[in-house]
Amino acid sequence: MADSERPIVIVGASLGGAKAAEALREAGYRGGIILIGEEHERPYERPPLSKGYLTGKDDREKIYVHPPQWYAEHDITLRLGTAVAAIDPAAHTVTLADDGQVGYHKLLLTTGSEPRRLPVPGADQDGVLYLRRVDDSDRIKAALRPGARIAVIGAGWIGLEVAAAARTVGAEVTVLEALELPLLRVLGREVAQVFADLHRDHGVDLRFGVQVTELTGADGKVSGVKLGDGSEVAADAVVVGIGISPATALAEAAGLEVDNGIRTDQHLRTSDPDVYAAGDVANAHHPLFDRHIRVEHWANALNQPQTAARAMLGQPDAVYDRVPYFFTDQYDLGMEYVGYVEPGGYDQVVFRGDPATREFIAFWLSGGRVLAGMNVNVWDVTDPIRELVRSRRAVDPKALADPDVPLGEV
Ligand SMILES: Cc1cc2nc3c(=O)[nH]c(=O)nc-3n(C[C@H](O)[C@H](O)[C@H](O)COP(=O)(O)OP(=O)(O)OC[C@H]3O[C@@H](n4cnc5c(N)ncnc54)[C@H](O)[C@@H]3O)c2cc1C
Ligand SMILES: NC(=O)c1ccc[n+]([C@@H]2O[C@H](COP(=O)([O-])OP(=O)(O)OC[C@H]3O[C@@H](n4cnc5c(N)ncnc54)[C@H](O)[C@@H]3O)[C@@H](O)[C@H]2O)c1
Repeated sequence: MADSERPIVIVGASLGGAKAAEALREAGYRGGIILIGEEHERPYERPPLSKGYLTGKDDREKIYVHPPQWYAEHDITLRLGTAVAAIDPAAHTVTLADDGQVGYHKLLLTTGSEPRRLPVPGADQDGVLYLRRVDDSDRIKAALRPGARIAVIGAGWIGLEVAAAARTVGAEVTVLEALELPLLRVLGREVAQVFADLHRDHGVDLRFGVQVTELTGADGKVSGVKLGDGSEVAADAVVVGIGISPATALAEAAGLEVDNGIRTDQHLRTSDPDVYAAGDVANAHHPLFDRHIRVEHWANALNQPQTAARAMLGQPDAVYDRVPYFFTDQYDLGMEYVGYVEPGGYDQVVFRGDPATREFIAFWLSGGRVLAGMNVNVWDVTDPIRELVRSRRAVDPKALADPDVPLGEV
């Protein structure tokens, strides 16, 4: 078979993979598309797993990217429960873990990421729970009963959203974080404090600067978390959210360039011209920031695949230059964040509105330019914030803070 008659193969059947298949068909591609995923579920979105799906507010049907018949209707071969074990870029084939081989014309890797495991004694006991997949969410949901003692390790996005869901259903929650504040590396001290206050006000026992040394238990079931100072937090279940690692093993073994994810150019093409990467796993060159960035958020997995699809079809103007965006919902706080700031990469934070009211916009600046903005319980402002970030012009911080000055005129 001539190379060009082979299908486009997508490895990773989650949001990124499903959106890539959709974008290929939307762009008019009529050749074969094979979407391979090791999970048994058809592609679904993860944000509800720590929010509405976890509390029981949203039912399962809401999580899926497409209805079941959509794949056949669009002539997309969906191979679920199938892990890809190896890629041979020279032969243009992927080897499946169950031994078959599939040839490709172009290959897209949307393998996403995997939770980091807690490296302490006792971490393999029952009741120690991670959150990435829908069945993980089901397990945590079963543990979130009124009065149950839930210890959450890590005050990042997973930890805080699970803490909020657990409090919402009436569980007792202790959050154990290694740093001095939640979300410190992403938000910095000034805004991280807002999330600490939010959770304290909702009755979460927050412990910062702690070292988890061991998970205690009996008969293989976890019963507590031991800390570096010798104290112990009793727990009926422990939820661990200490970050993720991009799923790069396949790419690495195939000799693709890997450095904090699979390195790609601005077209999302890897170091092999017929292999592309998108979503959590891609460390892509971003033309606006003129550097490689890897974004671990939903909007990136939603949008990057459209660029990858068009680039695989040979469209030279397919460049990914969107400003990163993400959101969270915790209790009655909803927020959106637009922009990109390296940990510690700002020199000023400007608030428009009082953060104590939890209705405000925060801006991170460096050298007078807006790097990112976050609207908290304030809506319909992401477009002007995105424009401020994109323009890279110096702004007047007083005007930025003044709610009477429209953001478009700052
Ligand atoms: C609980 C939770 C809540 C979240 N909430 C938010 C939120 O509110 N806002 C936000 O912006 N972001 C949120 N995120 C992040 C967002 O979900 C991720 O950025 C997004 O899922 C990344 O999508 P992806 O398609 O790149 O990868 P993934 O969703 O990780 O999917 C990768 C898929 O590839 C499969 N795979 C990997 N290796 C292989 C292989 N060798 N063979 C076959 N298949 C393979 C995996 O099994 C997986 O199904 C959340 C994440 C989680 C876990
Ligand atoms: N709303 C959202 O955007 C959202 C929601 C949920 C998940 N996610 C994504 O899911 C992924 C996983 O989230 P996450 O919360 O696990 O990662 P994270 O990187 O957001 O946070 C991890 C936290 O764990 C802490 N930590 C690390 N090791 C620790 C230890 N040994 N003991 C105590 N604390 C420790 C870190 O200091 C950090 O605060 C991320 O990619 C995240 O972006 C995003």
